[in-house]
Amino acid sequence: MKSMSELSHQFLKPALHKQAVCIDGTLGYGRDAGFFLEQGAKRVYAYEIQPNVLAAALDNLPDLRLHVLAKSHGQMGLDLGFLQEKVDAVIFNFGYDPHTLEGIATTTDSSLAAIQAAAALLRIKGRMALVFYPHPQGVQEKEAIFKWLEMQPYLETTYVCHPFKQNSPSLLCVEKRHKA
Ligand SMILES: C[S@@+](CC[C@H](N)C(=O)[O-])C[C@H]1O[C@@H](n2cnc3c(N)ncnc32)[C@H](O)[C@@H]1O
Repeated sequence: MKSMSELSHQFLKPALHKQAVCIDGTLGYGRDAGFFLEQGAKRVYAYEIQPNVLAAALDNLPDLRLHVLAKSHGQMGLDLGFLQEKVDAVIFNFGYDPHTLEGIATTTDSSLAAIQAAAALLRIKGRMALVFYPHPQGVQEKEAIFKWLEMQPYLETTYVCHPFKQNSPSLLCVEKRHKA
């Protein structure tokens, strides 16, 4: 059985190509950014607020196509709003990095601001994968994101979760469609 993380990559794959511009909203040690690079993306913007984690990711992924932003993804609208080229694929793995004992977890306000900015940057048919993990603020974070997405007529969504375990990772798949 595939993990939610593997399923998220499977969902994003059709949106990727040699000219693809991608965003990883939570870089961690770089598994998702590495996936985008492996798929031949032209440029990957990646956010990470923990400097030690970010440094390790850069060691793992010495690649000039990776543009790391050492700050909160809550700033995404200000940082990337200028992009002339639209974005093909976005991923957020919420929560905290499991390797860090006292890691910093994502928070509702900045996660929501980042999703909103990323949705505006996505091209038509562009895809965004949101992977949720059970963590203390996780329920509130997921509820706020779901509530906002429900009101967005141009964002199609599919939700993947374990049918019997409430406290397990889940995946929300988002695709931007044409305006009517
Ligand atoms: C679940 S991990 C990411 C896993 C990663 N994408 C991978 O491929 O392995 C979540 C990461 O988000 C980072 N993070 C938490 N809050 C953040 C924020 N506001 N902006 C950017 N990164 C944040 C944490 O430091 C942590 O490294």
